[in-house]
Amino acid sequence: MTVPLLVLADVSRHYRGKGGLFRTGEAVLAVDGVDLELHPGETLGIVGESGSGKSTLGRLASGIERPSTGKVAFQGEPYAPIGSPAWRRQRRSVQVVFQNPSQALDPRLSITAQVRGAMDAHGLTGGKASAGSPAAILARVGLEGLGRRYPHQLSGGQLQRAVIARALSLSPDLIVCDEAVSALDVSVQAQILNLLQDLQAELGVAYLFISHDLGVVRHVSHRIAVMQHGRIVETGAAGDVFASPRDAYTQALIAALPAASPAARRARDARRRLELAKV
Ligand SMILES: Nc1ncnc2c1ncn2[C@@H]1O[C@H](COP(=O)(O)OP(=O)(O)OP(=O)(O)O)[C@@H](O)[C@H]1O
Ligand SMILES: [Mg+2]
Repeated sequence: MTVPLLVLADVSRHYRGKGGLFRTGEAVLAVDGVDLELHPGETLGIVGESGSGKSTLGRLASGIERPSTGKVAFQGEPYAPIGSPAWRRQRRSVQVVFQNPSQALDPRLSITAQVRGAMDAHGLTGGKASAGSPAAILARVGLEGLGRRYPHQLSGGQLQRAVIARALSLSPDLIVCDEAVSALDVSVQAQILNLLQDLQAELGVAYLFISHDLGVVRHVSHRIAVMQHGRIVETGAAGDVFASPRDAYTQALIAALPAASPAARRARDARRRLELAKV
């Protein structure tokens, strides 16, 4: 067994209640006593219904946020204090890709400038970059010749490729993908998922792959952890969790999968677009 890349040991995160009319000062336990390990080159899928704590877990795993209790260790060391030089070095190795790529990019800068800016910020330009030149990285993610474009000149899928290029330019060991393909059309989703898998095969990068879409998670994950109310209720090899879910909640999630086959999913999405068009 390889040394784990990421270890969460009895990690909890609570938020103070918003003090609203009915929830005065009540604390929300977003993540509740989670243990998990992620190994180099592995994809761990995190699934669960909305509000189950997936994004909070992703922020804790990437060091953006501190746990209330418990320990998070990346490459054998706890995250350094947020904002410190040591933390910035750690964060270079842990990149995040969120749902909305247009928010992640600077509208005033070309795609090449954003990739170069990320590398500059970490002192990776001037021959020190192991990931290659911005142009080479953009070509690798399928954006060859588009580096001079600005974000508003790219499609949703191309924007997400640009975000992935920027992440790759820092040669990360882990990429936390939080609903990274959820906003994209189904055919574009498949392209981005294939790209992520190809990059993993080439570079050995690990993914913490968060999605409410079990079909997507099943497609990319080696192992899956199922979250409910901040806790992990089931973990296992992806095939096993889907073939014989042990937990009643997991069974319910799988039963609620609207359509298992790509053709049925396309039909469902087309129906949804029609419904939306009527609104
Ligand atoms: N910054 C915050 N302040 C207060 N409460 C928060 C904060 N972030 C998350 N929460 C609460 O923690 C719980 C878990 O939220 P989280 O966003 O992690 O869920 P999620 O599984 O990612 O949901 P979704 O599938 O909708 O993205 C929710 O009850 C949420 O309201
Ligand atoms: Mg979320």
